[in-house]
Amino acid sequence: RERTFVMVKPDGVQRGLIGEIVSRFEDRGLKLVGGKFMRIDRDLAEEHYGEHADKPFFEGLVEFITSGPVFAMVWEGADATRQVRSMVGETDPAESPAGTIRGDLGLDLGRNVIHASDHEDPGSNEREIDLFFDDEELIDYDRVDEGWLYE
Ligand code: GTP
Ligand code: MG
Repeated sequence: RERTFVMVKPDGVQRGLIGEIVSRFEDRGLKLVGGKFMRIDRDLAEEHYGEHADKPFFEGLVEFITSGPVFAMVWEGADATRQVRSMVGETDPAESPAGTIRGDLGLDLGRNVIHASDHEDPGSNEREIDLFFDDEELIDYDRVDEGWLYE
């Protein structure tokens, strides 16, 4: 089982989409092991999006992600990072098929509702989990339906 980091961005929180997004991961069978409603400060934003520091959209991205509360989560399951990414869709909602979170809930590249760790960047899941959560904030437990979710 793998853990992956997911975050409802400020636009998703303001639009009342936390429940909708959490439901999709619960329904899929992923297990919530951590959740935190929080505000991201500038230092955390710059570290989290460090890979984009030299991009022209970086300043706007940091402004946006610090502009209101976010809902940070850790989800666990088989191949969780890849599974979550396939549910999230492409970076640009216009290229995200209906049925994906961005394809169903977003319109604009810079307001794409959700962040998820990148399966093409190995280790990004653990790095982001460590950045946002202390070990004791992640809860080990069994879901009652686990025996029916995996062979
Ligand atoms: P995250 O899950 O947020 O990391 O999205 P992603 O992995 O699909 O995309 P990426 O890491 O490449 O970019 C991070 C975020 O920066 C995206 O979610 C977008 O909101 C924003 N972004 C990426 N590329 C552009 C761009 O060309 N222009 C603008 N304005 N924003 C961009
Ligand atoms: Mg990314």
